[in-house]
Amino acid sequence: MVLAVTGGIACYKAVEVVRLLMRDGFSVQVAMTREAAQFVTPLTFQTLSGQPVATDTFSLTEESQIGHINLADQADVFVIAPATANIIGKIASGIADDLLTTVVMATQAPVLFAPSMNVHMFENPIVQENIRKLRRVGYHFMEPVEGYLACGYEGKGRLPEPEAIVEEIRGLLKKKDLAGERLLITAGPNQEPIDPVRFITNRSSGKMGYALARAAARRGAAVTLVAGPTSLPPPAKTRVVAVRTAEEMRAAVLERFADATAVVMAAAVSDYSPVQVAPKKLKKTADALRLELKRNPDILEELGRKKDGRLLVGFAAETDNVIANAEKKLREKNLDMIVANDVAAEGSGFEGDTNIATILDHGGNVVTLPLMTKDELADRIFDHLHALKTNRP
Ligand code: CTP
Repeated sequence: MVLAVTGGIACYKAVEVVRLLMRDGFSVQVAMTREAAQFVTPLTFQTLSGQPVATDTFSLTEESQIGHINLADQADVFVIAPATANIIGKIASGIADDLLTTVVMATQAPVLFAPSMNVHMFENPIVQENIRKLRRVGYHFMEPVEGYLACGYEGKGRLPEPEAIVEEIRGLLKKKDLAGERLLITAGPNQEPIDPVRFITNRSSGKMGYALARAAARRGAAVTLVAGPTSLPPPAKTRVVAVRTAEEMRAAVLERFADATAVVMAAAVSDYSPVQVAPKKLKKTADALRLELKRNPDILEELGRKKDGRLLVGFAAETDNVIANAEKKLREKNLDMIVANDVAAEGSGFEGDTNIATILDHGGNVVTLPLMTKDELADRIFDHLHALKTNRP
């Protein structure tokens, strides 16, 4: 991929973007305008990317090493971060008078702009018209973020955080095979209150459900994530509905079920909740305290009874007889797919970033997967779901 850096104070954040992309295994070719090189030296980018930095079309050595048409042809995605008002204006007007604008003009790869500038510059009707024009013909844009700007103003103009830019790039590179799907995904634990300061919960971190939401959004689905309490950042391009109890989760899911084409229940729904919630903090008086619990509704089972054409995916977190228990849940809850995992196995389960899972479907197929990251597993789950949908009679 090509990362083009143009001259704004946010250039320092582009350095972090390169570092994150390298961590993710991308091959990054950096191109800089002369102005950008006033903010951060090409040597910084060259050291991080491990490749010479392209700066000048009219340099004989550079042209023989990199070649501007070569750069345009080889890029699978072209990112301009930070993008100044000047570069947006030049590209919108069809000007190609330096290396960067020439390459952008010649590339057939998707081009992503991450603008960053003074708030009044960003709001300038000419800049806005240029952005609209570029969007109309297929260029992609990220919105600048609101906040404190280097020029001293507060407002919309900050470059999005490096991680958000990298996430946008991942999305651009994905096949949009889930376009048209409206996915309802649940994630995280529930909290069942005992009194105003205490609750019952479980060890779910929400990481699997959030990975599913990210993967589905990248692949073009419209995603609603109904999430129990977690400390995770909201996934990009996802509507997040925050809930606490199983009952709240049930209500949030049922409300959005009619509109969904598929539901993935990755939440570790609390099976029980206290019969009584004390209105005031319980004091420690007796030597022992007995809590009476009642069964919570089984959300997935309820969906299974009224699913119509919707695809339903469940999770089975087990510690023994993993496959047999998962198969039973698949059948009893009328699911299309279930993802079984042995939460007691090393590298699998709640808090980590990896999982070891087996996918079972209503056709009797059983796919045993090796240890992989939750992000990879999310994609495998959607590959399977997509295949089920495509092969449907
Ligand atoms: N689930 C649900 N509502 C519940 C309990 C579970 O929707 N009250 C969903 C989970 O989100 C998961 C699947 O059902 O997708 C299986 O959850 P799990 O807790 O493993 O199984 P249970 O059906 O609760 O059975 P058990 O706890 O006895 O293993």
